[in-house]
Amino acid sequence: MMLPLATAADSTWWKNAVIYEIYPRSFADTNGDGIGDLNGITQHLDYLESLGVDAIWITPFYPSPQVDFGYDISDYQAIDPQYGTMADFDRLVAEAAKHHIRIVDDLVLNHTSDKHAWFMESRSSRTNPKADWYIWSDGKPNRQPPNNWLSLFGHSAWQWDTPRNQLYYHEFYKEQPDLNWRNQQVHDAVDNMIRFWMKKGVAGFRLDAITTLFEDPKLRDEPTLDIKTAFGDNAVNRQYTDNLPEVHDVLRELRRVTNEMPGRVLIGETYLPNVGELAKMYGKNNDELQLPMDTQLGFLNKLSASEFRAKLQDAETKLNGNPPLFVFSNHDNVRSWNRYGDGVHDEAIAKLIATLLLTPRCVAMMYYGEELGMTNNNPTSVSQVKDPIGIVGWPKEIGRDGERTPMQWNADTNAGFSTSHETWLPVAPNYKTKNVQTESKQTDSMLNYYKTLIRLRKQNAALRDGEFVMIDEKNSSVLSYLRKNGGDIVLVALNCTATPQTVHFDLAAQGVKSTNLKTLLSSFQASGASTSSLTLPAFGAYVGEAGK
Ligand code: NOJ
Repeated sequence: MMLPLATAADSTWWKNAVIYEIYPRSFADTNGDGIGDLNGITQHLDYLESLGVDAIWITPFYPSPQVDFGYDISDYQAIDPQYGTMADFDRLVAEAAKHHIRIVDDLVLNHTSDKHAWFMESRSSRTNPKADWYIWSDGKPNRQPPNNWLSLFGHSAWQWDTPRNQLYYHEFYKEQPDLNWRNQQVHDAVDNMIRFWMKKGVAGFRLDAITTLFEDPKLRDEPTLDIKTAFGDNAVNRQYTDNLPEVHDVLRELRRVTNEMPGRVLIGETYLPNVGELAKMYGKNNDELQLPMDTQLGFLNKLSASEFRAKLQDAETKLNGNPPLFVFSNHDNVRSWNRYGDGVHDEAIAKLIATLLLTPRCVAMMYYGEELGMTNNNPTSVSQVKDPIGIVGWPKEIGRDGERTPMQWNADTNAGFSTSHETWLPVAPNYKTKNVQTESKQTDSMLNYYKTLIRLRKQNAALRDGEFVMIDEKNSSVLSYLRKNGGDIVLVALNCTATPQTVHFDLAAQGVKSTNLKTLLSSFQASGASTSSLTLPAFGAYVGEAGK
């Protein structure tokens, strides 16, 4: 089914977008099996529209043995029955369009499941038509791996396999063999798969583990580091398995394919060491990813005005004018509430983080439940763990279950997520107070704070289209900046410390004639705010119009 969602006029719809990540297992369960499904997303489109999101990125819902909860795909062009049917997917796309919400699919191109037909064929002999679709090696004598490459999920990245009597490479679990991107047939198969989803009306793709598509063809040992991983392995510097230059050729190819239809966006899972590497992901001629994920800001993991400022400046000045894609939480990382909270001012800090995500010049990516202040609910013993990383790595690596718990809709059984007697992961105990229904009624809730921020981002011309100007740059406690659109100026001030701070701004050089501030949103009672003296409580966040 073709949907008229991408017209020439909105081909850059994503430039100021809010993209909401949904982990479908955990969003809403409509068939009572304790696992979320596609119809659960469709059922909650009114909510997503009221929140104001422009697109939803849904993590993999394709057929999968679920070893890595969907990131081990056994068929790229179908729906896993536990999530629904293709008709459900088509209905979701169509209904979402009516709610002005686009769908972004997750594409896992680095690897497939070991149950994918491609791998089954590849492993069947050394001469079959797909023999070279994966990374195979004879290894060293006695079935030993050819080198010291490590799986990100623990231990050697090589697995012995019969009947080929060879080893195959797996960056992640052994059930996730890596595709061979030096084989043109792999490219052709993937390109056609992308066309299939675009024709279904999908507006973009989030590219999983995209920097790791290539490995050194000589299979050289990685340099070792003098530290142990959480899995007890000797750590290596991943210079032969991550971020190889050939990745950029594939990104250009994917961009060419997605450019065949207007308005399609490529988002990258790009954990990179610095902004220079991030800039390369947009492409020398802006012909690669529109939105590589900027992890520099959101995963700083400490509240530091100076360091946040430096990261924002980097994004402003070193990405060739491209919009950064900021993100503070996702299904692989401890929720931002826990990573940034100090145990005393958690809600104020969460509102500060929300403001930092949604008021700079950026595309904002948020994770389901962040808008409620959902917290990690970690397993307390290895017997409870579902994520294999936590089973292999316990207790140093407890896995990612804690940040993947069911969405909290209301204060009823299972937080309204499911009618099953048991949900696939336990609901976090705070669901009685932190849930959509309860927070909708509280004017100062996290949820209403997010809703206001997102509405302002859309409706206020300075926050929507304005340039970004850093001010008060020497202040090591309060991060302040302006968004400027002609004479419309919005000032944002974020107190990154646990003590109250008073700031004084002289905005005459910015063309602001009066010291008046008209509060648009603040995490505290901001009466009498003015640019000559603005007092912020511990971790206070303030957004106001200057000169008004
Ligand atoms: C990144 C995904 O976000 C993560 O959840 C997954 O385990 C790995 N890629 C492997 O696909």
